[in-house]
Amino acid sequence: MPAVGRSVPRKDAWDKVTGRAKFVDDYSAPGLLYAATVRSPIAYGRIKAIDTSSALAFPGVKAVFLAKDIPGKNVNPLVYDDQVFLAADEVRFHGEPIAIVVAENPEAAYAAADLVKLDLAPLKPVLSIREALDSDSSRIYKDNNVFTEYTITKGDANKAFSKAEKVFEREYETPYQEHAYLETQGMMAVPGPEGQMTVYGSMQCPFYVHDAVSQILGTTRNKVRVVQTTTGGGFGGKEDFPSIVAGQAAMAAQLLQRPVKLIFKREEDIIASPKRHPGLIRMKIGTDCQGKLISADIAYYVDGGAYATLSPIVLWRGTVHALGPYVCENVLIRSFAMATNKVPCGAYRGFGSPQVIFAGESIIDEIADELGIDPVEIRRINGLKLGDSTATNQKIDQSCGLMETIARATAAADWKKNWRHPSKRTEKIRKGIGVSTIYYGVGLGAGGKHLDRAGASMTIMKDGSVSCAVGNTEMGQGARTILAQIAADALGASYDLVNVIETDTAFVPDSGPTVASRTTFMSGNALISAGKELKTRLLPIAKDLLGAGETDEIEIIDGFASFKNPAKASKIAFQDLVKEMYSRRLMPSSFGWYVAPDTSFDKKTGQGDAYFVYSYCTNIAEVEVDMETGEIKVTRLISAHEMGKAINPQQVEGQIQGGALQGLGYCTMEEIRHDSSGRMLNNAFSTYILPTVEDSPEIVPIIVEHPYSEGPYGAKGFGEVPLMGIAPAVGNAVFNATGKRIRILPIKPEKLVDC
Ligand code: MOS
Repeated sequence: MPAVGRSVPRKDAWDKVTGRAKFVDDYSAPGLLYAATVRSPIAYGRIKAIDTSSALAFPGVKAVFLAKDIPGKNVNPLVYDDQVFLAADEVRFHGEPIAIVVAENPEAAYAAADLVKLDLAPLKPVLSIREALDSDSSRIYKDNNVFTEYTITKGDANKAFSKAEKVFEREYETPYQEHAYLETQGMMAVPGPEGQMTVYGSMQCPFYVHDAVSQILGTTRNKVRVVQTTTGGGFGGKEDFPSIVAGQAAMAAQLLQRPVKLIFKREEDIIASPKRHPGLIRMKIGTDCQGKLISADIAYYVDGGAYATLSPIVLWRGTVHALGPYVCENVLIRSFAMATNKVPCGAYRGFGSPQVIFAGESIIDEIADELGIDPVEIRRINGLKLGDSTATNQKIDQSCGLMETIARATAAADWKKNWRHPSKRTEKIRKGIGVSTIYYGVGLGAGGKHLDRAGASMTIMKDGSVSCAVGNTEMGQGARTILAQIAADALGASYDLVNVIETDTAFVPDSGPTVASRTTFMSGNALISAGKELKTRLLPIAKDLLGAGETDEIEIIDGFASFKNPAKASKIAFQDLVKEMYSRRLMPSSFGWYVAPDTSFDKKTGQGDAYFVYSYCTNIAEVEVDMETGEIKVTRLISAHEMGKAINPQQVEGQIQGGALQGLGYCTMEEIRHDSSGRMLNNAFSTYILPTVEDSPEIVPIIVEHPYSEGPYGAKGFGEVPLMGIAPAVGNAVFNATGKRIRILPIKPEKLVDC
């Protein structure tokens, strides 16, 4: 294939590296006003009164809007429809929006926001998973503080423990993680004639925003248009939350009949936007003496925050992935999303999986150590192979590259030579090596299957250039490039002449969210269907122009039509086919629609085909730990990934590098601290410490391809996987170096040094 499989240059590269790309805050509109948010100063309480008079008197202020001013419904439509756009009777977390101040300039808006007087009656907040479970704590959601729970039952775990020769019980904890996208949350809403509203902004899910804006305005969806602007990172953090920002901006724009821009400062973005859920994971695993898994009993709790938002589906993904990529006949997994009075947690690359993966890949390592088995060997023994079944009893019947990722990663690490049993070591700087193996269900799976469809339109312009519109967004992950590669090969056009525009809800029907590593697969398949249709219109033209006979076979590839028989050398340029297409008055557009392969999940037993296919990965981390200071230096990360087909190998490598660094931060640095009243203490990049390029180890990306029959040119999903298995690989390497097992992330120096 001329485009697919090649590292063609990114469509958006030049504009981004030259600073020409326009992010939402770079946009303006005639009569633009600026909004700022009034936020709750407490974690939980009743709203008694709000006095806006001083704010309204501030020079330049146009309006202060409260929940009662909302023309439509004050709730963001999502899973349970519970998060309000503006707090009405009570506040449920510190930083929750209460009012929107609109002014002629952002300085006035922010200054006036400070003048809104809130009369709040504080209530006792629930501030952790353990507090939410405690029967003495406040009941903030139903009678048990549980938003959602799931159970997976395969075989009989409790009975099977008696057959196990060894039983291991461990508890692990994982922290919040902030996305730290470079561009903060932001939206601009522009009212139009006849009650129309156009919203421009930074987001992953324009169709969620479309739903939300229609809901808050109380208007039909055909009056609302959502246009993606260049998006400076998402990582899950712009999945559900932009709906709130867009809703608030649109409400103000509607009520004032002027354009309104709402752009977050970093401090409020960190306080008020979703994070990765903190997790508490209890694992009980029974094995035989060779390390074969006999039975697993896993309990998984996440801190959902003040509203359910995405927690029900984040928890679902985590539940399905809780056992990891292993065969075990007796499995009991119970999971719970807990309500607390903190910021609602949501999507972050991996979506509920990195927490259980840290626990699962750590305990597998602990088991190997206690049984005296090589950590790679225990994964080979138990890992999924073709024909095996997962914890949900899903048979893996194709595209299973787990064993090959293990083989390739261990070869690159020279594992046999470099791994030694963590015996007593005395050096000041100690080296260690650790491994993790993971799998990842591609797409929304049975938990969100009704949303798992995607559309794409394709138009060949008169000059032979091609414009495509898709429903999944570019957020920096390279979607527009990868999708243009797929579209080019499906149509037979050259990559250079194919463009995929930023998502605009006016051009494509609801194609679901841009999440779950589904974009290449879903929008790619929709583009293939659109491209094929147009090609069937071009082929007869090619035959005519080439003077082909009845039996001649013709192909259109990379911008030329030619005979399949290499003896006949004549060629027709794509542009000439298109010229003829236009003069014959054939329709130069097509529309592709793709529906994901079916999935199933029995709510009672948790059994079924949870996802239509899985991607696989093995990470090997090499570390050096300074035993005096506890400092961890990750010296090398080897990441072997099987994603079906690498549409653009360089983009795959870029994802591996970025994901590795986010995984390193999750493992060794990142954490959010709250004070005893539930106020976030580190809401800036000076106090929320992230890895930078300075912390980057040598990263060795390895691509393994086991094409998936339903994938676009064999591709599965990949975007989230590079982050997911890094933390346990590093944690296991730290154990290998020091003999210390840290079960509460992040693994910081003070946890490694005996004081
Ligand atoms: Mo993604 S974490 O599924 O937005």
